Amino acid sequence: MADTTTTTTTIQSSVDPDVASGVAQFLAPVVIDLTALVVNGKQAHWHVRGSSFIGVHELLDDVVAHAQEWADLAAERIVALGLPVDARLSTVAAKTTTPELTAGFSQIGNTIAEVVAQIDAILVSVNTAVAELDEIDPSSQDVAIEIARGLDKDRWFLSAHVSA
Ligand SMILES: [Fe+2]
Repeated sequence: MADTTTTTTTIQSSVDPDVASGVAQFLAPVVIDLTALVVNGKQAHWHVRGSSFIGVHELLDDVVAHAQEWADLAAERIVALGLPVDARLSTVAAKTTTPELTAGFSQIGNTIAEVVAQIDAILVSVNTAVAELDEIDPSSQDVAIEIARGLDKDRWFLSAHVSA
């Protein structure tokens, strides 16, 4: 006869609850803003127009891929410390600090200006996380630092298309 006994094991978090909540406070906005960039970056990817179309079109897919990767990195840091993340569509729409994109087709200069504005808004959240997590949790601060460094590079790659 089959053994139908079920064993439930609960493993308590090893993390101080105050540390976990502090990390969630500063990384959750980063998750939300990066998730907004995933959506808005695709919108820009589809609608950009101009003489260097293909380069910018493909670069915007890199920006989206990076945003997805970093949203996952920040979200999983919060969850690893035992707390949930709310990055539902409605929550992202309500809470993101990224500005609204212009609807429809867009020339390269305008597209890049608008996506750089998205990145600049996210960098405010990320740099706040870098500063505030310094005394809360170095491993989580490291996550924010990695994201800040990557966003700076994507900002450069985008802006170089229209810089003198
Ligand atoms: Fe595509």
